[in-house]
Parts: sequence; C-alpha cells; structure tokens
Amino acid sequence: MDILFKKNDISSSTALIVGIYENLLLTKTAKKINTLLNGGLLKALKSTDFNGKIGQTQELLPTEALQTKRLICLGLGKKEQNNELTACKIGAHAANALLTGGETAVSFATDDLPAAVVGFGAKIASYRFTKHKTVFKKPVTLKEFYVLTEKPQTAQNQYEPYFAISKGIHTARDLVNEPSNIINPIAFAKRAEELQKYGLTTEVYDEKQLKAKGLNMMLGVAQGSINPPRLVVVQWRGKPEDKNTHAVLVGKGVTFDSGGLSLKPAKGMEDMKEDLAGAATALGTLQALAMQRAKVNVAAVMAMVENMPSGTAQRPGDIVKSLAGITVEVVNTDAEGRLVLGDALWYAQERFKSPVLIDLASLTGAITIALGTDIAGLFSNDDKLAEQMKKAADDSGEKLWRMPLDDLFEDDIVSDIADIKNACSTRAAGSITAATFLKRFIRPETKWAHLDIAGVALREKNGLLGPKGGSGFGVWLLDKYIRDNLETKN
Ligand code: BES
Ligand code: MN
Ligand code: ZN
Repeated sequence: MDILFKKNDISSSTALIVGIYENLLLTKTAKKINTLLNGGLLKALKSTDFNGKIGQTQELLPTEALQTKRLICLGLGKKEQNNELTACKIGAHAANALLTGGETAVSFATDDLPAAVVGFGAKIASYRFTKHKTVFKKPVTLKEFYVLTEKPQTAQNQYEPYFAISKGIHTARDLVNEPSNIINPIAFAKRAEELQKYGLTTEVYDEKQLKAKGLNMMLGVAQGSINPPRLVVVQWRGKPEDKNTHAVLVGKGVTFDSGGLSLKPAKGMEDMKEDLAGAATALGTLQALAMQRAKVNVAAVMAMVENMPSGTAQRPGDIVKSLAGITVEVVNTDAEGRLVLGDALWYAQERFKSPVLIDLASLTGAITIALGTDIAGLFSNDDKLAEQMKKAADDSGEKLWRMPLDDLFEDDIVSDIADIKNACSTRAAGSITAATFLKRFIRPETKWAHLDIAGVALREKNGLLGPKGGSGFGVWLLDKYIRDNLETKN
C-alpha cells in the first residue's frame, strides 16, 4: 500500500475517512461536512453509539450533497492526548478500517494531526507477509492511502524519515517471518549484502575466518548444524569525516534454535525461527538510518548460527575458550544465545571501540514470564544510557522496562571447572542471570544496554500496528534513540 499526500478536498472520488474527537467534537473537515449536510453528520452520529473514542468507526450513507464514494467517521480519542504515537495509531486505525474490505483507495482528512506520522501508522499497519501464500482468505485490497492535508509537499518531506523507518521495520519483520529453511546464516548474509544499495557496507566472515579470530563460543553453537555460521558486519557511515563509530548494535542471529542436544520440547518449537530477531532488528535499523542519510556512524554486528543437535553438536559439559579469553562450561546447549553474543560483543568492542554498545536478543523465555509480550527487558550498566533508551521507548510505544544487573547474581554463573558456566541450576531470575553472563564480556569503559526481546519479537495475534508474526520491535525505538542522542544536527 502506498502513502500519498494530497490537498484537503472533501469531494473525494475514493472512500473518505473523517476524524471525530471524543464526545463528538468535530474536526475542521467534519465541521465542513456537517455544514454541507445541514447538520446531518452530527444528527446521524447521535443516532448511533459512535462517540469518537480512538479507533471507533461509523459509516454513514451517501447523500446528494456530499460527493464522496463512501463516508466513514473515525474516532480520534481525546484531543489533548495528541502526540506522535497517537497520530501513528490513528493512521493505523484508518488503514485497518478499509484494508481488506474491497476498496482500492481511501482518503483520510488529517486536519490537526501530523499528516506524515498518520501515513507512517497506515504504512506499518498494512504490512502482510504473503509471499508463500497461493490462496488468500482476506487479501489486502487497499493500494493507495491518500493523506489529505493543507500542505501536501511539507507532509511528503516529513514523511521521508518515517518511510525509511517503515522499510526497516518491514525488513526486520520479513526476516523473522521467513522460515529457517529459507533464512539460514548464509541467506541472512545475502540479504544484508542486498542492502548495500542504500549505502551500507557489508562484511561477511565465514567459519574459517571466525576460527582464525577465535570466536569459539559462537563456533561451538554452530558446530551441530550443516548450515555454517556467518558473522555479518554492516556499517552506516553518515559522517565519513569522523573516524569514530558512535554506536554499535549487536544482534543475536540464531536462525533456528532447536535447543541443540539440550533439545527443546516439540510444542511451539516452530516459533524458534524467530531467534534471529535481534539481528533482524539491528539490520532493519541500519537500513532506516541509511535511507535517511543520518549524520551518524553506526555499525551492526550480527552473529548468525543455527543451533542443532547432531553427531557433531556441542555436548552439555563441553568447555570452550571465548574470544575474550574467558573459559566457559556449556552446561545447557539451549542457552546458546549468550554464547554467541559473548563473542560478538567482545568482537564489536575490540573492532570499533565505540562508546555505546546495544545488543538485541531473543534471549530468555523468562523475560516473557516477567514482562509479557508487549514490553522488552532493558539491562544497562549506565543510568544515562538507560534513561535515553527509556525515553525513546516511551515516545515510540516500543516499551522497555529496566531490569536489575546486580553483582549478587555473579555467583550463579561460576563454574566448578571453568571460569563461568552458561546456565544456572535454578530457573530463578533467568533473564538476569543471562544478562549477568553477557556483562562478563563488556569492558568497563563501554556504555552498554541489553534488550531482551524474546517476548515481543513475534506478535501472537493481529495487532493495531501489524499482523500476527514478526513485529519489527526495536527499529523505531533504536532509530529514535540514535537520531535524538547521537546524530549531529544539520
Ligand atoms: N531462544 C531462546 C529464548 C526464547 C524463548 C526466545 C521463547 C523466544 C521465545 C533461548 O535460546 C533459550 O532457549 N533460553 C533458555 C535458557 C535456559 C536454557 C537457561 C530459556 O529461556 O529457557
Ligand atoms: Mn536456546
Ligand atoms: Zn535461542
């Protein structure tokens, strides 16, 4: 579905959506229509239970006086509550109202709402992953979404960055939705290379190179699979005159997590195709930054492996020496994310020496027990970074809740015969012990944030801003954090 901006005009050849605030408070366009209909709009609405609550819709029958194909009233909620996120949600409601109903075009009069953000909400709500379907139950029929505004050119310009973010979100969603027989580490690396057309640079390291470098924790996870691992390093250098890298994103990219020899139960195992969500989000974020030509240098380090049981698989009890030199006893091969990330985090710090390091990982089932499926866990060794991430989370609606990283948990990961072990004897505070393991691979000077996105990466049911499946969680949030805090203005 394309988002197009047009001068406000109520004589629309398409279906027209007009906004109405709570308690039937009319927007400018609604007032115009009401006048045209001699008060008929309000009169008609009063005979229904439509009140203007956000997302509520009411279709009115066409009349001679108003030349529109169809007229749909959309509740905008309370007028005072208008911000970027509500405008985005209203755009999504508008798109969802007619997405699959047979209309091919719709116009939405935005009046006081920021037109560009409304377009963004409509765009991400219209995403569907249909490439493997040959039969459709409810196809998306809407092809053109006209955002009606007084200043279409201004809105079009303001839409550019939102368009970039929507593309990044859709990349992340696609990569999570694709099954593991299509996206393995090599296929992921190819997708990353395709994004070079936006000005990103991509390096791909194979298993021989990883061995030479010493990423043995990552290789240990990969060794049970016939699909070899890849370390994918993507960079956006929007400030080429500056040699520094302002932030590095590290993504867990387990293209399928069977658990390895510590095999997972069959029920729900199919969801483990989502276990590359951290890498998918990191890549989507870099795409968004590149498409905006953001004046900032950001790298993404994506550790791609498949975790499988086989005759070559790593055994519970094996000891590996990490890139950082710390020896690790692998007591549970299903706690593979922290192994892969430990090496990737160390590599990222040695290579880029960036002051800010953010990792994203579908790391623990325990984070879903703690925070559910709409809020991700935030762990950080730096209060300011945590505050900045929290602000970006609140603004984008991609919610974070800060979890504790207390030295107290370090005892839980001490191994009898190696330096540390990758899992604990109890399930208590599973997300915190996982984060504590990662912390061992963070240098004291690095400001680090870890986002445990296991609960939020895969939407369980259709939502306002996107359908069931890969959510793309984190792209908008990270784009916001980076542009608000690290990008050089003008
Ligand atoms: N990839 C899983 C975590 C996960 C669970 C992601 C559910 C998405 C949805 C991770 O590798 C894992 O298996 N974690 C274990 C750790 C345990 C063995 C210490 C877990 O959470 O059970
Ligand atoms: Mn696992
Ligand atoms: Zn995993």
